[in-house]
Amino acid sequence: MRTINPSRCRTLNPWLSLMMPLFLGLTAAAAESDMEKKVAALLARMTQTEKVGQMAQINAFQGQIPDDLKNRLRQGRLGSMLNETDPNTSREIQRIAVEESRLGIPLIMGRDVIHGFRTIFPIPLGQAAAWDPNLVRACAAVAADEAAGAGFHWTFTPMMDIARDPRWGRIAEGFGEDPYLGSALAAAMVRGFQGDDLASPHAIAACAKHFAGYGAAEGGRDYDTASIPEGLLRDVYLPPFKAAVDAGVATIMTSFNEINGVPSSGNTLLLRRILREEWGFKGLVVSDWESMPEMIDHGFCKDLRDVAVKSLTAGVDMEMQSTAYADHLDDLVKSGVLSQDLVDGAVRNILRVKARLGLLDRQRLSGARPAGRPSPKALELARQAVAESVVLLKNQGSVLPLSRGLKSVAVIGPMADDPYEVLGTWNRDGQIEDTVTPLAAIRALLGSSTAVHYAQGLPYSRSKDRSGFAGAVEQARQSDVAVIFAGEEAILSGEAHSRAHLDLPGVQNELIEAVAGAGKPVVLVILAGRPLTIGQVSAKVQAVLYAWHPGTMGGPALADLLFGVVSPSGKLPITFPQTEGQIPVYYAHKNTGRPPTRVPLLMIDDIPARAYQSAPGDAARYLDIGYLPLYPFGYGLSYTEFRYANLRISSPQAKLGDTLQVSVDLTNAGKREAQETVQLYVRDLVASLTRPVKELKGFQKVPLKSGQTRTVTFSLPVSTLGFHNSQMRYVVEPGGFRVWVGGDSQSGLESGFEVVAP
Ligand code: NOJ
Repeated sequence: MRTINPSRCRTLNPWLSLMMPLFLGLTAAAAESDMEKKVAALLARMTQTEKVGQMAQINAFQGQIPDDLKNRLRQGRLGSMLNETDPNTSREIQRIAVEESRLGIPLIMGRDVIHGFRTIFPIPLGQAAAWDPNLVRACAAVAADEAAGAGFHWTFTPMMDIARDPRWGRIAEGFGEDPYLGSALAAAMVRGFQGDDLASPHAIAACAKHFAGYGAAEGGRDYDTASIPEGLLRDVYLPPFKAAVDAGVATIMTSFNEINGVPSSGNTLLLRRILREEWGFKGLVVSDWESMPEMIDHGFCKDLRDVAVKSLTAGVDMEMQSTAYADHLDDLVKSGVLSQDLVDGAVRNILRVKARLGLLDRQRLSGARPAGRPSPKALELARQAVAESVVLLKNQGSVLPLSRGLKSVAVIGPMADDPYEVLGTWNRDGQIEDTVTPLAAIRALLGSSTAVHYAQGLPYSRSKDRSGFAGAVEQARQSDVAVIFAGEEAILSGEAHSRAHLDLPGVQNELIEAVAGAGKPVVLVILAGRPLTIGQVSAKVQAVLYAWHPGTMGGPALADLLFGVVSPSGKLPITFPQTEGQIPVYYAHKNTGRPPTRVPLLMIDDIPARAYQSAPGDAARYLDIGYLPLYPFGYGLSYTEFRYANLRISSPQAKLGDTLQVSVDLTNAGKREAQETVQLYVRDLVASLTRPVKELKGFQKVPLKSGQTRTVTFSLPVSTLGFHNSQMRYVVEPGGFRVWVGGDSQSGLESGFEVVAP
C-alpha cells in the first residue's frame, strides 16, 4: 500500500499539509459512521434474548465445553468469556458461537494480561519507576501480540488507580501516587495494547480499571470504602481515566468499592455523567467480577433484580461472572421498569467494541494457538524494562557498581534463585522455565574467573527457619562482597493481599544483620510489590537497589546493574514511608496552617517529663518520626552525578492561553553515561481552595554522557495549572506560582511566575 509521509507533504505542498488533517478526520468519521451503521443493522436483527446474551460474560471451564455452555452459545446468550487458556477449546467455542448461533456473533475472549503474557515485564508499579511512557507502550505491545496469538482479544489492564497507601496489595498493579505520571503511563499502556488499529491481529482491547477510587480504600484494606470529595476525585483520581479515554481505550471496568456511599457498579455520577456525558466515552463498561451482586452486601440493593436496575441505569453494559442481567433484564423491560433504550444502548456499546476489534468481520477468529517461548526481542525489551525500573536508594562509598574483576561474591537470600517469586502478582501465563534468576545471571555474567558462593539463608521470604543463617554468614565471610536478595513473595501483594506490617517478612532482617556482621560490604536488593519499611535494615548495609517484582528478565538486568553494565535510572513513583503509622504520606499534600517546615521541631526525647505543653514545635508531624518520609516521590540515585543549573522561565507573567517554557541545564558531572529523569513541579500559592505544596507537571528522561551538558526544556501550558473549584468547575486562578525543577520531589532549583487575568 502507498503511504503518504506527512512531513514531506509539509515541505512540498503547504496546501496539502493544511488539508491533510481535515482529510484524515473525514476518513475517520466516515469509517466511524460505517461502523455505527453496521452495529445498528445487527442490533435491529437481534431478539431480546440475544441482546441480553451479549451483556453476559462468564469464566471459562478450563478446557471444557459443558452442554449448558454449548446451548448458551447456540442460542446467542453469551457475549464474552474470560480465562479460556486452552487454544483448541477457545477455537471451538468461537466456532460454535459463529457457525451454530443464529447471528453468528463471536465472543470477546478476555484475560488479565497485567504485566506481560508469556514474557513477564516488571509489575506496573515497577514499570512506573522507569518514568518512560515509550517503554511502557512497547512492553504492552509485546504483551498484546503474545496474548492475541493465544486467542485473546481483551485484557483487563491498565489498572490506573491512584494509590497512596502501600498497605494496599494492589498498589503493585498501578502506577503509584501521582495523577500526572499515572495519566501519561495509562495512556501509553492503552496505546501499546491497542496499537493504531484494534482490528490488527497483534492488538487487543485495553480496559481502564477500576473506575473509580479503588486505590483510596480505607486503611489500605482491599475492597474497602473510599470517601473522596468530588474535587479531589476529579483532580487526582480521575485524570488517568480521562487520559485513557482520550487515548481511545475501548473498555472501562467498574470497581469493587463504594465511593461516597455509592458502589461503583451502580454509580450514575461516575458511569453516566462523567464518563459518557462529560468525556464522551463510546466503548464498553464491564463490571468487576461479581461487583454487581456485591451491591447487596454493600447495602445499596435489595436483591439481584434491584442490582440489574441500578447497574443498567448507572451504565454498566456487561456483567462479569454474575447473573443479575441474565436473570432479570428481560422481565424488567417487559414490565416497564427499565426502558428498551437502556438495553439497546448497552448492546450497542458492546457490538461497537466487537466491530473495532474486527470480530464482526470475522477477521481474527482462527487465532488461538499455544503460546511459544518469549522471542529474543521480547526478552531484550524485558531486560531493558527492568534496568530502567530498578531504583538505587543508597550507595554509601560508591560500593556499587561492583567490579567484574572481584575474586569472589556471595549471593544470598530467599529471592536470589527463585524463578517464580520474581514474576510478581498477576502472573497468569508466564512460565518459570523462561525466568533467569539473579543467581544464574550473575554466574553467567562473571564467568569462571569470579567464585560465586551461594547460600539461600532462608527457604522463602516469610520463613522463620534460621538454620541457614550460619552458612550464609560463612559464604559472606569467604567473599569480597555479599549481595542479598530479599523482599516479599509474589503472593504478598496483589488483589486481597493487603498488609498491616510493611517490613521485610519473616526473619529476613535478622538474616541481613547476621550477614552484615561478617564484615564485608553488603548490597541489598529488594524484590517486592510495594514500598517496604526498610529504613533500619538499610542502615546496616552499604547499598540498596529496589527492584520491585522484575519479571522474566529480572536476573540478567539486575546483574547488569550490580556490575555496572548499565547505571540505574529508576525513580520512585510512590513515597516510601518510614513506618506504617505515617501512612498516608505523599508528596502532593497540603501545607496546613502549621507546616512542620516552619518551626524547629521538638522530638519525643526532647520533651521533659511531666511537661504540660510541648511548644515550640507544634506542627503537622509525628513526635517520634517527624514528618519526612523514608524516601520521597521521584527519588533515585545513579552511578553518576547530575548537576542542575540555570533554571529559567520564558516569562514572569502568563495568561490562560499561554504556554510557558521552563528550562534548566543538566550536566552529567560523573564518570559514567547514565539517564536522569528531570522533574518539573509547581505550586499554586493562593487559590480559592487550598492547593498541594507541589504538583508534578512534567518529566523528561534524559541520557547524558560523562561531562555532557544539555538544556532540558518543558512546555508548561497555563491551562494545565487549574483545579476543580467549589462549584466543580475546572479553573485556573490568577496569582503567583512557584516552580521547581530537579531530580526528585524534595529538591530542585526554584523560581516562579504569575498568572494574570486576560
Ligand atoms: C477481579 C479484579 O478486581 C479485576 O481487576 C480483574 O480484572 C477481574 N477480577 C478479572 O479477573
